[in-house]
Amino acid sequence: MAALDKSCLVGPVPFKDVHGDDDHVISPPDEYADIVSTLPSIGSPDLHLRLYQDVWLFNELVPGFISVQRRFTPRPGDVLLASPPKCGTTWLKALAFATMARAAYPLSDADHPLLRLNPHECVPFMEALFSAGQEAKLDALPSPRVLHTHMHHSMLPRSLADNPDCKIVFVCREPKDMLVSTWHFIKSAGGSSNSSFSDLFELACEGKNPYGPIWGHILGYWRASKAAPERVLFLRYEEMLADPVSAVRELARFLGVPFSAAEEAAGLPMDITAMCSIDTMRGLDANKKGSSGTFVKFPHETFFRKGVVGDWVNHMSPEMARRIDAIVEDKLRGSGLTFSS
Ligand code: A3P
Repeated sequence: MAALDKSCLVGPVPFKDVHGDDDHVISPPDEYADIVSTLPSIGSPDLHLRLYQDVWLFNELVPGFISVQRRFTPRPGDVLLASPPKCGTTWLKALAFATMARAAYPLSDADHPLLRLNPHECVPFMEALFSAGQEAKLDALPSPRVLHTHMHHSMLPRSLADNPDCKIVFVCREPKDMLVSTWHFIKSAGGSSNSSFSDLFELACEGKNPYGPIWGHILGYWRASKAAPERVLFLRYEEMLADPVSAVRELARFLGVPFSAAEEAAGLPMDITAMCSIDTMRGLDANKKGSSGTFVKFPHETFFRKGVVGDWVNHMSPEMARRIDAIVEDKLRGSGLTFSS
């Protein structure tokens, strides 16, 4: 696909409009093979995790994490969306993109990127690109860039985490629902066909789920948001679901693009919320068809399941729930952060 000239427009440009369907793996950085091979490892061939800097990562993505740490060059104005998996990343990508790009792409535009592309095609996943040797693609993205990471805060390159000119938006979710969503996603994406939910649950209790421990992921961004609230916004999926319009206003304010009185009067925050709702998104051809991903292609439809709070009751016994609640409560103690069921 030809590169679009969006330089005259304000706001992020969809990643796919710049790079098209080219997802060719250039060279998974072999230079890190020695480091990766020495890392502790668990799991099966379809859920093979490695412990890198106290975080359990998918084996094939570890080089990407190392590479981001060593090679990523932030730009002023970069916005980093961060999340543990299955906590509303797709939704946050859509909301942040629609909000930031509203001057360049009015919502009334029949060709709006979010009507023709999956949110993951608009906002790239950094570690996967770096794992595939495709980091130059980020250089080709015009500013302001919106990028996504599953890195814990402690793993971020300091040039990004401590950069006064970059903003970070983190979204997390009640851990039991997150685990249930993770399990469905692994199943629907065709992986780990022999493992049961209780296998994943046991791993999570030990902090060994993908990108775990969950508490480490959440606490890092929680503390960073307390230390620098102007640079790190901490969102919770449940609060966003309860009041998505307020969430989008908070997002816009934080990103330095608050809604004007005229935009409020025109109902723009409501319109963005409606466009990005799970019902609207899952009904679009762009999300019913196609797939995205660097090493594994995830069908777009697998990113939209129930989108509710409390689905864990359908998968966990009260005893399991008490157990993981107690572990999480213990790990978060003293932080000021709690999750209620
Ligand atoms: P469930 O599996 O509980 O339904 P991620 O985007 O981080 O992979 O998270 C996926 C979870 O977010 C899934 O949760 C999915 O249904 C939900 N989700 C996806 N799009 C959403 C949207 N627009 N609004 C609310 N939830 C959404």
